Amino acid sequence: MPRLWNAAVWLLALVAASVRAQPSPDVQKRISAAIRAAAHANGTASTNYTAFVNPFIGTDNYGDVCPGASVPFGMVKFTTDMTGYAPADRARAQTVRGLSPLHDSGTGSSLGTYGNFEIMPLLCPGGFDTCTTRLQDRERYRLNNTDDAYPGYFSLTLNNSIKMEATSTRRAGLERFAFPPGSGTPYFVLDLANDLPASFAGGTMDIDPVAGRITIGGYWGSSFGPGIYNYQAFACYDLLNNGKQRLDEWGVWTGDSYGLDAKGLGLTHLNLTRNLIGGTPYQSGALFSYADSPSEITIRVGVSFRSAAQACANAESEVGDASFEEIVERSQGLWNELLGRVEIDVAGTPENVTEMLYSSLYRSFLTPNNATDETQGVFADTTAHYFDSLYCSWDTYRTFYPLMSLHSPVEFAQIVDNYIDGYRKMGWMPECRANNLPGWTQGGDGDNIVAHFAVTYHDEAQALGIDLQELYAAMVADAQVNPPEWNTLGRQVNVYKEYGYVPFAVLDTASTGRQTREGSRTLEYAFEDFGLRQVAQLLNKTEDEAYYTNRSLASPELPSQIHDAYKLHHSGTETSGILTSSATASKKRYSNGTFKYTNPTTCSPQDNVTTECSLQADNVNGFYESSSWEYSWFAPHDTAHLVTLMGGNETFINRLDHFFDAGYYLAGNEPSFQTPIGYHYANRPTLSVDRVRQVVFENFGITPAGLPGNDDQAAMATLLSFHLLGLYPVPSSTELLILSPFVPKYTIHNPYLNVSTTVTVKNYDPQSVANPIPDGASAYVKSVTVNGKETESRCHFDFYDTFKIGADIVIELTADKDAADNCAGSVPQSISTGGFASARQISR
Ligand SMILES: *[C@@H]1O[C@H](CO)[C@@H](O)[C@H](O)[C@H]1NC(C)=O
Ligand SMILES: *[C@@H]1O[C@H](CO)[C@@H](O)[C@H](O)[C@H]1NC(C)=O
Ligand SMILES: *[C@@H]1O[C@H](CO)[C@@H](O)[C@H](O)[C@H]1NC(C)=O
Ligand SMILES: *[C@@H]1O[C@H](CO)[C@@H](O)[C@H](O)[C@H]1NC(C)=O
Ligand SMILES: *[C@@H]1O[C@H](CO)[C@@H](O)[C@H](O)[C@H]1NC(C)=O
Ligand SMILES: *[C@@H]1O[C@H](CO)[C@@H](O)[C@H](O)[C@H]1NC(C)=O
Ligand SMILES: *[C@@H]1O[C@H](CO)[C@@H](O)[C@H](O)[C@H]1NC(C)=O
Ligand SMILES: *[C@@H]1O[C@H](CO)[C@@H](O)[C@H](O)[C@H]1NC(C)=O
Ligand SMILES: *[C@@H]1O[C@H](CO)[C@@H](O)[C@H](O)[C@H]1NC(C)=O
Ligand SMILES: *[C@@H]1O[C@H](CO)[C@@H](O)[C@H](O)[C@H]1NC(C)=O
Ligand SMILES: *[C@@H]1O[C@H](CO)[C@@H](O)[C@H](O)[C@H]1NC(C)=O
Ligand SMILES: *[C@@H]1O[C@H](CO)[C@@H](O)[C@H](O)[C@H]1NC(C)=O
Repeated sequence: MPRLWNAAVWLLALVAASVRAQPSPDVQKRISAAIRAAAHANGTASTNYTAFVNPFIGTDNYGDVCPGASVPFGMVKFTTDMTGYAPADRARAQTVRGLSPLHDSGTGSSLGTYGNFEIMPLLCPGGFDTCTTRLQDRERYRLNNTDDAYPGYFSLTLNNSIKMEATSTRRAGLERFAFPPGSGTPYFVLDLANDLPASFAGGTMDIDPVAGRITIGGYWGSSFGPGIYNYQAFACYDLLNNGKQRLDEWGVWTGDSYGLDAKGLGLTHLNLTRNLIGGTPYQSGALFSYADSPSEITIRVGVSFRSAAQACANAESEVGDASFEEIVERSQGLWNELLGRVEIDVAGTPENVTEMLYSSLYRSFLTPNNATDETQGVFADTTAHYFDSLYCSWDTYRTFYPLMSLHSPVEFAQIVDNYIDGYRKMGWMPECRANNLPGWTQGGDGDNIVAHFAVTYHDEAQALGIDLQELYAAMVADAQVNPPEWNTLGRQVNVYKEYGYVPFAVLDTASTGRQTREGSRTLEYAFEDFGLRQVAQLLNKTEDEAYYTNRSLASPELPSQIHDAYKLHHSGTETSGILTSSATASKKRYSNGTFKYTNPTTCSPQDNVTTECSLQADNVNGFYESSSWEYSWFAPHDTAHLVTLMGGNETFINRLDHFFDAGYYLAGNEPSFQTPIGYHYANRPTLSVDRVRQVVFENFGITPAGLPGNDDQAAMATLLSFHLLGLYPVPSSTELLILSPFVPKYTIHNPYLNVSTTVTVKNYDPQSVANPIPDGASAYVKSVTVNGKETESRCHFDFYDTFKIGADIVIELTADKDAADNCAGSVPQSISTGGFASARQISR
């Protein structure tokens, strides 16, 4: 399993081998029972979609999924923080440091992200002064295999049998702690300073023992961005459960790892600055206990990125005096509404496919975190929607937003509004935003996200609050304005425009940024230019359309890279699948036009040397989180030209087969997403079907290790969703490639447009949901009809003929692979063969 190149992982840590998963076996039993019951009911009862979701998928194997309690796009995601590598990664035998309200899901920061305001229940038989408040003292194992979660709910039981549960609203929630009988006085330690990346930069805490309220506010640093910036966060803990609980003792504490372990009974105020010497994290917080030895304690928590007062107000308005069960139920209602936008024939679908699909859809609604009205810094008081944790557009433009466009234009528009607001406030749209701060730029910018919205919803844009002219102006800024510093915002467009590619070792006197990833930045910049070209076309900006079309194709690096890699891999020792160690190939290019040679298998799964492949300065490979082999397939807007460069359809197919068979395919990172469907472009769609089966079966499943790498804000989840639905999107376009659905029938509802599209799979054979597809099982697309009319090609159709207007689609499958092994019409579009010739709209 490739692990070292997961998106956003660039601080590598030594890791003990994965031990085993922690969720209770009851989680899977409950899900299986729910799927069976729904299959039995077969549509006669209303479906409880939340019951199909397994929040633990992707919590092992570096998936970094957050299994915590959250509402859709929740700013609060309650879960426990773990020690060790990527504390978000939960499966290993790691200890628990506490339960806390702020988390991201799927991001690869090896230190973890957020984790502020941790609370940990303690037993202190020796009294207040003996409590184990410091991290290293309070950490403890959980009871093995007892974690539980479903949408809106999370729980974990510590190895002293104290059970911690949580449920949440958008910015608040309830925590509930059950102490075993005879535990004595329940104590709690609450952190002011600690967060997962140990980035505390000062803050204050106040205990109001009469009101039973603790307020916290402070500054912390980004998990995936420059350390010079800090964000502000606030929390409000209400300890008395609406007067049903009574405090016994309270006070403050400070500590470190070298003997400082001081407590102040009765003190109520802390005011700390950044510890300028650094090193070991400075630890501090509150300590309190309850009178009357209650066996259950409920604590209400509100958070805010604006003020402690707002954190309290959020708890009051969103939770109020509602019970734990009421908050769980409200959350489930929200989840059910969103998950129900995709309906499937549960009775006819393999159980694990149902579970994978709904768990993926769940994560596709889990992020980004909706921090509307919780803005700070340059976004303070913005009137636009605001989302935190956009890391990163490079991950999400490929499948996340295209999936959203099928059923959720309102949510999509809010996020687009937020991207455009980035341009308004900072001059460029964000590529990455982590912890409310600019994150590291991986490929370029968010152009293909807003472009995808524009091409799919231009008729509705204004009603959805998006001004397309402004959207385009934001894209033009990304494409034309070179930021002085492009590590966090924008592209290095000055040299890209001058040379037509991003040269290696170029003299750039106008801007600063880490001089790596020249090959992948060139290819991503070019595809971003395609996004501009698509919106220019839509807006009838004819000259701009020609200009950006040119830019999206003109990169002289693209053909040369392909050509070199192609020659290398189809000569000499290639047929054995082994490259000679002296083999080198050109990837990145000097400004004088000469190529700098690097091995194209570097950073592929076959590269077991510890090469740096991410943002490191010594990533001299020229590519980001991928090999040049993999990136050589990347030209989604002009694959036809790639086919030609590689010597035609047959050699393209051979090369693609070789690529997979030799083990160069790296499932765990996003540049691999479209590789398995490449066969469509060489008119061999059945081979894409075979490869997608292989990719799904070899990399995805329903266990905690069921993702091949970081979920990356559900980039992986949405890729899997498309695979299971038998579709694949071309970003910034309205084209959808047709593959072989893993489900016999599904309906996608679009509540904003008030349309539904049903895909019925004729001759669906559950036996075909296997790798390899058994002989005689029908799995290959024989024909496709939309509203009874056969499509021009069985390889692709358009959003405007289907999901935009609501349609009945029939995909007929056959076991006769030979008969199905061409598009029976056009291959998917490419610019150089006349594709993407005009912007689609609803035919009236
Ligand atoms: C489920 O119901 C549909 C009709 O709504 C029917 O075609 C199908 O055969 C049923 N499936 C099972 C397993 O009973
Ligand atoms: C739906 O499923 C969830 C998760 O299993 C469960 O907690 C909830 O009670 C169910 N809701 C209904 C109405 O059955
Ligand atoms: C619980 O975990 C702690 C620390 O992680 C460990 O020291 C202790 O022995 C464990 N207790 C039990 C009962 O397993
Ligand atoms: C819990 O799991 C860990 C790791 O596998 C193991 O070392 C430990 O003995 C287990 N504890 C119990 C009580 O089974
Ligand atoms: C914390 O201390 C700083 C420096 O003494 C002071 O400026 C600030 O007002 C204090 N903040 C609070 C909330 O007490
Ligand atoms: C985000 O929160 C705002 C304010 O509550 C709300 O209006 C909006 O619908 C939310 N958006 C999403 C996608 O959850
Ligand atoms: C672009 O031109 C087409 C065809 O003339 C027209 O239907 C469309 O409204 C125009 N769009 C804009 C944004 O002007
Ligand atoms: C496109 O590029 C070609 C070749 O570099 C150039 O001749 C032509 O003027 C360009 N067209 C536009 C519209 O920029
Ligand atoms: C281009 O520059 C590189 C690096 O300085 C050098 O190795 C190469 O020889 C140069 N190529 C030409 C044609 O001058
Ligand atoms: C490197 O990986 C290849 C292919 O998996 C394997 O054959 C080889 O033994 C590995 N080399 C080392 C030094 O681990
Ligand atoms: C590949 O096959 C398609 C469909 O037959 C054809 O249109 C295209 O020209 C072929 N490409 C090349 C480079 O031969
Ligand atoms: C689904 O379950 C079946 C039967 O247990 C198994 O053979 C198959 O590998 C599973 N599929 C995936 C994608 O994990």
